[in-house]
Amino acid sequence: MGLLFAAKKTELPDGHAKVVIVNGRRIALCNVGGQFYAIEDRCSHDNGPLGEGTLSGKLLECPRHGAQFDVTTGKPVTLPAVVPVRRYEVKIQGDDLLVEIPHD
Ligand code: FES
Repeated sequence: MGLLFAAKKTELPDGHAKVVIVNGRRIALCNVGGQFYAIEDRCSHDNGPLGEGTLSGKLLECPRHGAQFDVTTGKPVTLPAVVPVRRYEVKIQGDDLLVEIPHD
């Protein structure tokens, strides 16, 4: 697959998360102080919509049961989630945010 367009930088202000669909995958894009991160939009606890959660610093809180994930690693830092979510590389090209989609 490779690098695919996900969003314009201007669509994602600092401190916000946004759900995008890239090549059929639901991805939560996050702006943490001007750095951009992407994790899958599906909580590893019970499939909660992570991208609709609240971002505090680099922690994204699942809106269903409140597990927090570090968006820079995809790892959960609070219960009830214990399994990491998938993380994607984000590249900036001009005003565009691109996400690296693996071939699998
Ligand atoms: S579904 Fe995310 S914490 Fe339960």
